[in-house]
Amino acid sequence: MKSNRLRIKGGVPLRGKVSISGAKNAALVLIAASIMAKGETVLEQVPYIEDVQVLIQILQKMGVQVRWKEDRSLSIQAPDEALTIQAPQELTRKLRASNLLLGSMLARQPEAAISMPGGCDIGLRPMDLHIKGVQALGATVSIKRNRICAERKNYHGAAVYLDFPSVGATENIMMMACMTPGESMIENAAKEPEIVNLASFLNAMGASVRGAGTDVIRITGVSELKAVRYAAIPDRIEAGTYMLAAAATGGEIMIENVIPQHLHPVIAKLREMGVIIQELDHGNLLVYAQDPLRPVDIKTMPYPGFPTDMQSQMLALLAKTPGTSMVVENVFENRFRIIDELRRMGAQIKADSHLAVIEGRPVLHGANVRATDLRAGAALIVAGCAAEGETIIEDAVHIFRGYESVVEKFRGLGAEIEAF
Ligand code: UD1
Repeated sequence: MKSNRLRIKGGVPLRGKVSISGAKNAALVLIAASIMAKGETVLEQVPYIEDVQVLIQILQKMGVQVRWKEDRSLSIQAPDEALTIQAPQELTRKLRASNLLLGSMLARQPEAAISMPGGCDIGLRPMDLHIKGVQALGATVSIKRNRICAERKNYHGAAVYLDFPSVGATENIMMMACMTPGESMIENAAKEPEIVNLASFLNAMGASVRGAGTDVIRITGVSELKAVRYAAIPDRIEAGTYMLAAAATGGEIMIENVIPQHLHPVIAKLREMGVIIQELDHGNLLVYAQDPLRPVDIKTMPYPGFPTDMQSQMLALLAKTPGTSMVVENVFENRFRIIDELRRMGAQIKADSHLAVIEGRPVLHGANVRATDLRAGAALIVAGCAAEGETIIEDAVHIFRGYESVVEKFRGLGAEIEAF
């Protein structure tokens, strides 16, 4: 039996160094895109986490050879013939990112099918923009028994306007367009660093993608992509989580292996609160808190706005920051379930579906709480480290889905934390 609980004895200021892993959201889409290449792709900086393991299992069931190499890189080799399109539902239900196989499969073969994806239960997470995109490029799509089935016969480049800059839809459309004859354009595209990482990977494989990181991405289709060796960018959300934990405990930590620019939306808010953040050589960040921190207002937005994936952890920090703060969630409609758990620890937060008003207090206390999703779980670690007494986090598997060596890394910073 794998451990599914964490025990934290809080109140210890975090100190020391932590090295950030490759980004979950970058690695997942690079893995999905690897099936578009001929030959063996080798990916570096892939975090060893549950979500990655599930995606690997899905690919293996579809006929792709995937294995970890001795140097911790990941080797992926798809066969020349068509892949099995029936990915098992018990696996795809576990992982929203399995939807990224829609674009990469349609790029390499005429048919694809994916289950309506699972993952964190943080809102509706519809697939309409993904479907609209692949349809614009010439795919016919039908929904059969909870599966999205797509077929492309007369496919062609096209312009797609996204009503919302969805990360997954931008990625799926970009992947399919890379091997779709003609010119394609994605307007109101997502601009997240993971999108730029994917575009650079595809270009290294021989694709022609321009404009990634801006609102408009232009793609010229090519007939073949070659396999390359490539690395995922560092995980800006993992880094942000450690920064907030340092601030919440009044500690001082050095964060290694980050791209500071990707963290600027988070750094700006922490500085507004009075947290000191110094950018050192080689992209390392020194983070320390000076009492007392100031309250702050946050609105989650697509990049370069404040990331929704940092919102729960921010609630934990603000719960312990005296004064009134406000948090507006604009990306997902169900991301405040963490609040009930934080209240058990003494947090004073009032909320409706999108707005939370936090009356910060200097002291939180340990409690029995439940990780309702991945980032909520991360927030409970932040709160648990900052609280007085013992916190038990149930359903910690959600945290292991997305944070590599989380117990070891927090211990390395002096936290009293164990999985059991
Ligand atoms: C990705 C990230 C996730 C992050 C999110 C927003 C991965 C594996 N996951 O998720 O960690 O929280 O971006 O930064 O990269 N939407 C639609 N129709 C669609 C698709 C999305 O309405 O077809 C809506 C969603 O319901 C949501 C919003 O768009 O309200 C953002 O979703 P999206 O950017 O697509 O998130 P994901 O790609 O699922």
